[in-house]
Amino acid sequence: MRILFVCLGNICRSPTAEGVMRRLVAEAGLQDEIEVDSAGTAAYHVGSAPDERASVAARRRGTQLGGAARQVADADFAIYDLLLAMDAENLRELHRRAPDGEARARVRLLREFDPACAGATDLDVPDPYYGGPRGFDTVLDQVEAACRGLVAHLATIDRN
Ligand code: 4NP
Repeated sequence: MRILFVCLGNICRSPTAEGVMRRLVAEAGLQDEIEVDSAGTAAYHVGSAPDERASVAARRRGTQLGGAARQVADADFAIYDLLLAMDAENLRELHRRAPDGEARARVRLLREFDPACAGATDLDVPDPYYGGPRGFDTVLDQVEAACRGLVAHLATIDRN
């Protein structure tokens, strides 16, 4: 199972989701079944390390962020079983780029996997880039809850 987390710049939200998911997958002993990566819909920050504010906030919770930013590629739609968008704008862009209906169906919003979000209409992880440091904690709260739901969902699939 291969999962790609996608935001706009690939330096704040999606590297956070990748780091949190990698930690939760390891804690669940699923590291041989689940592969994770992240990418951005935009190319502004290609090659950059995760935003220092995101890294500091994550480290405080025991999550290490890493990798260099890259843009979503056409090949990603053939490689990943799930492409998880951080907000509705990322979702729209991925839907626009998906080569066919089958690929389109593998594009979802990350927070759909947070059981606490059932019935919610706004499933965005808000972009923290231009806000204060508290935005990065909100991202971690939302991403962690959704990734826990995602691991639980994948663990169920894995058993069947
Ligand atoms: P991200 O945050 O999409 O969570 O990585 C952003 C990073 C950079 C920009 C916007 C959002 N930017 O406009 O440069």
